Amino acid sequence: MSILITNIKSLLQVRENCPSFISGNDMKTLPTIENAYLLIENDTIVNYGPMEDASSIEAETTIDATGKFVLPTWCDSHTHIVYAGNRELEFVDRINGLTYEEIANRGGGILNSAKTLQNTSEEELYNQSIARVKTVMKLGTGALEIKSGYGLTPEAELKMLRVIKRIKKEFPVKVRATFLGAHALPQHYKNNKQGYLDEIINVMLPLIEKEQLADYIDIFCEKGYFDLDDTKQIIEAGKKHHMASKIHVNQFNAFGGVALAVENNALSVDHLEEMNDEDIEVLKGSNTMPVALPSCSYFLSIPYTPARKMIDAGLPLALATDYNPGSTPSGNMNFVVSTACIKMKMTPEEAINAATINGAYAMGIDKQYGSITRGKKANVIITKQIPSYYYLPYSFGENNIETVIINGQIIA
Ligand code: NIG
Ligand code: FE
Repeated sequence: MSILITNIKSLLQVRENCPSFISGNDMKTLPTIENAYLLIENDTIVNYGPMEDASSIEAETTIDATGKFVLPTWCDSHTHIVYAGNRELEFVDRINGLTYEEIANRGGGILNSAKTLQNTSEEELYNQSIARVKTVMKLGTGALEIKSGYGLTPEAELKMLRVIKRIKKEFPVKVRATFLGAHALPQHYKNNKQGYLDEIINVMLPLIEKEQLADYIDIFCEKGYFDLDDTKQIIEAGKKHHMASKIHVNQFNAFGGVALAVENNALSVDHLEEMNDEDIEVLKGSNTMPVALPSCSYFLSIPYTPARKMIDAGLPLALATDYNPGSTPSGNMNFVVSTACIKMKMTPEEAINAATINGAYAMGIDKQYGSITRGKKANVIITKQIPSYYYLPYSFGENNIETVIINGQIIA
């Protein structure tokens, strides 16, 4: 199966020798080819270049992209897209004055979602989750990291991870799985946090490794959830089971979690709404990707990750959705890119780099995803006819996508 896309107004994010990620000033550049073609064979990008070089190329399917832009699909490196039910009642409680913290303290929040998930069958959980996966694919997402963490028992965590594995098998979207057993302290361990950590480390992790259910490990490092010592235990246990870490950190409080993650070679540190100067300093020159989740800031009305300060200090940055029922009930990466420009003062080029190649790095798939590069996977977005690529973040809330190709398959 071959697809030839012709007359592309501008082919974006073309990188012959694509680096693993882009940092600092380099994020301001988005390499492009004007009036271009792109050739896909099966699941792979095989060629591209100026239209005048395409005259002799034949393909089974030709798509005319006159007036349209082509770019790599979004790499959403942080989601909790597998969950059961929703939390719209808590949403209204927050409108009426309760805080996210107050809702969590009275047994709502993550524990509310865990209760629902524990009482949902694996089949039903799969069905609810794939409805969301299909939606985000049409919105241009070609790679998804998906976390567990709404199970909080060995049985329910494994149920979530098996659903993730099934999505990985049955959909063209690239999936990476992260084990987030340490998302919240379940009720039955209320006064025994170490007991729960021991259960994660000694019971859940060996089972997960045996069934090969997770690529990465995560913990919610936050006041009222898990502290630095807990985080260290989880990162080290992950290493023993060959899982690098991706850490929820600095969402509400900055207390050294970023440094701990970097020291332990975490693949990413995510949230970062609260960042102090030491956090920025320690990320410099490291292999750990900082990940911002602007839809979460928007939905909870909390600060945005200080992207400007971080990029100006030379750091890379990735953007992801955090799609989950409590803090971000949206998996729309187009909205994330817009919000990053509008609220975090990222330029369109920076935001697109952050949502493609840097996102790919933050989920360990940068060799095959995140840019238009020969040999990489055929994951591309074809826009509608729009005046320029600035129009993508500018026209927030509008759907500017006409066609999505994932793994060489035309999705929408
Ligand atoms: O990334 N912060 C921790 N976990 C999720 C939200 C959990 C929830 O409210 O269900 C997040 O925002
Ligand atoms: Fe999250």
